[in-house]
Amino acid sequence: METTVQTDTSGLETRALSSALGVEVLNIDLATSGSDALAPAFIDLFNRAAVVAFRGQSLSPERLIAFSRHFGPLEPHTDFEHLLPGHREIMLVGNVAPPCGGQPFFHNAMEEWHTDLIQTQTPNAATVLYAIESPPAGATTRFIDARAAYDALPQTDRNRVDAMQGVYDIVTFDNEMRRQDPHRPPLTEEKIRRNPPVSHPIARTHPVTGAKSLYFAADIIARIDGMSDEESRSVVDGLLSHASQPEFVYAHRWKDGDVVIWDNRCTLHTATPFDADKYRRLLYRTVIAGETPY
Ligand code: OGA
Ligand code: MN
Repeated sequence: METTVQTDTSGLETRALSSALGVEVLNIDLATSGSDALAPAFIDLFNRAAVVAFRGQSLSPERLIAFSRHFGPLEPHTDFEHLLPGHREIMLVGNVAPPCGGQPFFHNAMEEWHTDLIQTQTPNAATVLYAIESPPAGATTRFIDARAAYDALPQTDRNRVDAMQGVYDIVTFDNEMRRQDPHRPPLTEEKIRRNPPVSHPIARTHPVTGAKSLYFAADIIARIDGMSDEESRSVVDGLLSHASQPEFVYAHRWKDGDVVIWDNRCTLHTATPFDADKYRRLLYRTVIAGETPY
């Protein structure tokens, strides 16, 4: 793997996180407003690298929010149950609460590749996770470079996926969530009415870079528009087994103090399980508002 340290024109020192994707920014302290002047360089790097890590950070909630805002307006969390008390921009993820309280979203997932809020009209553009406590084993977060995966498809397949639309609906989504959590309360008619199905291109164009990437969430997609359930399933499974090949995947092993931002518009990601009876995990999470995919 390439581990050469590079210095870009704005003075950021960076290093590749893997041969697939991801870049780490070295020797940077996001805790003080001094780092805010580097926002244009962070954005430039984010647009190129898609997954950017800043290790060894020690951030107040306010500084995590200020950092996240460099990348766009924050999206209010839809999940009110899991907020950091006093900071509605921050959601808690993991199996232990911070000293100030709150109830983290705990989801000890099997491998479920997705991109955040794809089942909505305006999915999150980016997500930031900040690791407060990390288990010594497991719980790596895996990322696919969905641009490279798209580019590596044979031209005939690219032409086919260029014409495909993925359909997401709340009933399919909810069924999948209930499969994982049988105690989930039932969907109401009202909620179904308020959340009509959405369609998004399977080959999404990045609104900043213009790059195309594969864009789908295999476990919650209802179908590909115009295809039978069976045909949809076989196309989606084929695309996922292509995209999840090791050459496109970076697995992030969390250490306390890691801040990682990823671009939901050109990557797919999945959590992986850990021994939650034995180990503690807590992350703070912010999300950047997105636009309708095209
Ligand atoms: C998320 C997510 C992965 C993880 O926060 O959107 O998918 O490893 N997290 O917790
Ligand atoms: Mn996610």
